[in-house]
Amino acid sequence: MSQQEKIQRLIELREQAKLGGGKKRIEAQHAKGKLTARERLELLLDEGSFEEYDMFVTHRCNDFGLGNKKYPGDGVITGHGTIDGRVVYVYSQDFTVLGGSLSETFSKKICKIMDQAMKVGAPVIGINDSGGARIQEGVLSLAGYAEIFQRNIMASGVIPQISAIFGPCAGGAVYSPALTDVIIMSEKTSYMFVTGPKVTKSVTGEVVSTEDLGGAEVHTSKSGVAHFRAEDEEEGLLIIRKLLEYLPQNNLEDPPVTETGDPSERADDMLNEVIPGESNQAYEVKDVIYSVVDNKEFLEMHRHYARNIVVGFAKFNGMPAGIVANQPNYLAGVLDIDASRKAARFVRFCDAFNVPIVTFVDVPGFLPGSAQEYGGIIVQGAKLLFAYGEATVPKVTITLRKSYGGAHDVMGCKQLRGDINYAWPTAEIAVMGARGAVEILEGRNIAQIDGDEGKGRYISEKENEYVEKFANPYEAARHGYIDDVIEPRNTRFRIIRALQTLVTKKDVNPPKKHSNIPL
Ligand code: HXC
Repeated sequence: MSQQEKIQRLIELREQAKLGGGKKRIEAQHAKGKLTARERLELLLDEGSFEEYDMFVTHRCNDFGLGNKKYPGDGVITGHGTIDGRVVYVYSQDFTVLGGSLSETFSKKICKIMDQAMKVGAPVIGINDSGGARIQEGVLSLAGYAEIFQRNIMASGVIPQISAIFGPCAGGAVYSPALTDVIIMSEKTSYMFVTGPKVTKSVTGEVVSTEDLGGAEVHTSKSGVAHFRAEDEEEGLLIIRKLLEYLPQNNLEDPPVTETGDPSERADDMLNEVIPGESNQAYEVKDVIYSVVDNKEFLEMHRHYARNIVVGFAKFNGMPAGIVANQPNYLAGVLDIDASRKAARFVRFCDAFNVPIVTFVDVPGFLPGSAQEYGGIIVQGAKLLFAYGEATVPKVTITLRKSYGGAHDVMGCKQLRGDINYAWPTAEIAVMGARGAVEILEGRNIAQIDGDEGKGRYISEKENEYVEKFANPYEAARHGYIDDVIEPRNTRFRIIRALQTLVTKKDVNPPKKHSNIPL
């Protein structure tokens, strides 16, 4: 064979590999409203940046007729490319090849790029669309998953790991995405569950559809397993690109600072009027967030889950930061099990990757009741407390209004390593609200008063006294728990100056094998 012929052969082999399971299966993939594994990578990565590995790998199994079903690449496309010029490692499961099922060699391909990503210190993005363990390969396939899980665990907190679910992801296969930092699901075309509807019915009798058991809606609003629900795959891939703007390449780097063009001294008079006259009235905390961040850009995570707390990424004068904010517009911003878990995970995500945390506090306390206590709110709330207390990244806390009880301590208070704590003049920082306090402190006196009218008068007198003394930021400021009381309109500038000051902050935890966070 001449050199030209050999090159021609290479070109043909590449063309064959690029067809995956063949034209018909590609058409079937499109007919389901799904992109192919390669089309997804094209959209995800900077144009022309993809370098593919292991295009010619095939499986080694000859059982159950698999011997004559060998496809170059074996159902997963792996390699590296760039996003906004920064290196990322990728794998993209190809459903057109044996349903994207995972074989021994398929797993080895993924492990190869994960190992290299760890050495290089670059994020790994996995696009999942697979029928799970390749049934014909039996235990080899299970071992293949376990090899990936182990790498997910070792990479956790070292390099960002992002999972897109754009098709089936079932059985033990769900655990690789679950071990990564962020999960994005596409609406209608993706699902995740440990056991599917058929097994569910035969074991428990419950009849439930695929969508209702593990669709994108369920996992972004009910279980909280997924962080983003994308209308389609294009949007999902854009979210990944956006997310990386806020993250460093690895845990030894800082997140990238960029020029955003939004003046740091920009004040906003709207903030001086955003808090309603009555303490129990709701308002939209995202109005505050959009007002203070660069160019109103806020990448909200877990938007549909535990809406009483808001978390996500934004920039302040080009510096990426994670935002945690109680949401008075939903359940009065109360802290419950789901909100505590959601925020705790986010705080730890930020801390692992050196992203400073800005916290906006307006929290009436923890949600009372047996459902919460039986669900272990003690341990769940402790997660958030633990996360804040353990985090060494710069932490700036702004108390907008209520900061009551245990929830005050949990939400980035000074004693849990809050670096710079500001409050608006509307802040109310106390052990509990006036009504509850008067009931407890004055119960005996109230009981001795004759008649409802007299009782009512006494209660409101005492409530006013309590509000006067405690429903303000000055008691806390008097003790230095609040560094300054600031005018709301200047909040953006004060946060930016705080973050700039804290850029060189150093804090460490004592040496240990690892902490024992209450799980
Ligand atoms: C081998 C598989 C496969 C698998 C699908 N295929 N899943 N081959 N192993 N796990 C093949 C099919 O035989 C078919 O090949 C082709 O892929 C396309 O599949 P279809 O069934 O035609 O596609 P569709 O109707 O869209 O259904 C997709 C599906 C279904 C829902 C994913 O294929 C399915 O239920 N597959 C099995 C899922 C499963 O139980 N997996 C094991 C989970 S346990 P042909 O050539 O006929 O077109 C697991 C354990 C992991 O994963 C453990 C980790 C610890």
